[in-house]
Amino acid sequence: MELKNAVAVVTGANRGLGRHLAAQLVEHGAKVYAAARRPETVDLPGVTPLRLDVTDQESIREAARIASDATLLINNAGVSTGATLVGGDLDEVRREMETNFFGPLAATRAFAPVIEGNGGGAVLNVLSALSWFHPAGLGSYAASKAAAWALSDATREELAPRGITVSALHVGYMDTDMAAGVPADQKVAAADVAAQALSGIETGLQEILADETSRYVKQSLSAAPQPNAG
Ligand SMILES: NC(=O)c1ccc[n+]([C@@H]2O[C@H](COP(=O)([O-])OP(=O)(O)OC[C@H]3O[C@@H](n4cnc5c(N)ncnc54)[C@H](OP(=O)(O)O)[C@@H]3O)[C@@H](O)[C@H]2O)c1
Repeated sequence: MELKNAVAVVTGANRGLGRHLAAQLVEHGAKVYAAARRPETVDLPGVTPLRLDVTDQESIREAARIASDATLLINNAGVSTGATLVGGDLDEVRREMETNFFGPLAATRAFAPVIEGNGGGAVLNVLSALSWFHPAGLGSYAASKAAAWALSDATREELAPRGITVSALHVGYMDTDMAAGVPADQKVAAADVAAQALSGIETGLQEILADETSRYVKQSLSAAPQPNAG
């Protein structure tokens, strides 16, 4: 899709990757609704702040009513709690699933009729290398991103006849607040990831693999099954 004439809604656009995506969309000439659960924290020039908490159905409905000219939805908002699946706090596991899976699902359901009504467009889901790689220490987050990967594939098929493409962005660690505790040499620049994501939307890629980690992990999926340890 051409970004110059796009009308984009970016969730979690007040900081991190979402802020880079919103800023670069403005540079491309798109109209941008910078969605955030606290719109007063959006500090980007040239965007329209929009209140949207992806875990709050009413706020999603209202955002879709206001951004009635949208042609591009970027499901970027996400949380990482560090909860493990067996020993971790089940409320945190649910919060991760609510934000990272049900959030994009609810936003997609609300904005699909809007985008379709505007002649079609695109959805981008911000996923992770952890959609495909599931270490115990990040089990809950990985499960939510794996679910969002399945969501991306299934909604791609469901929305294609309605003129809406669905892309998924996969990346390892980025230099945002979410990965503040990760050493700098293990992170890629969020600005660069945002640029690759937008280029992928423009060329219509189903999956955008934005760093070496995501490319390696995707490739490893074809490895032969291993025996259980122990
Ligand atoms: N950083 C990484 O290493 C990494 C790697 C792979 C994928 N990702 C994914 O990249 C995306 C962006 O994350 P980031 O790295 O930019 O992290 P970040 O700096 O922590 O930003 C997270 C964003 O999500 C928003 N958010 C959280 N819960 C929300 C809710 N219920 N409703 C609306 N917005 C909500 C936050 O808003 P508030 O300011 O209100 O909290 C913030 O804008 C996420 O989907 C994340 O899972 C990150």
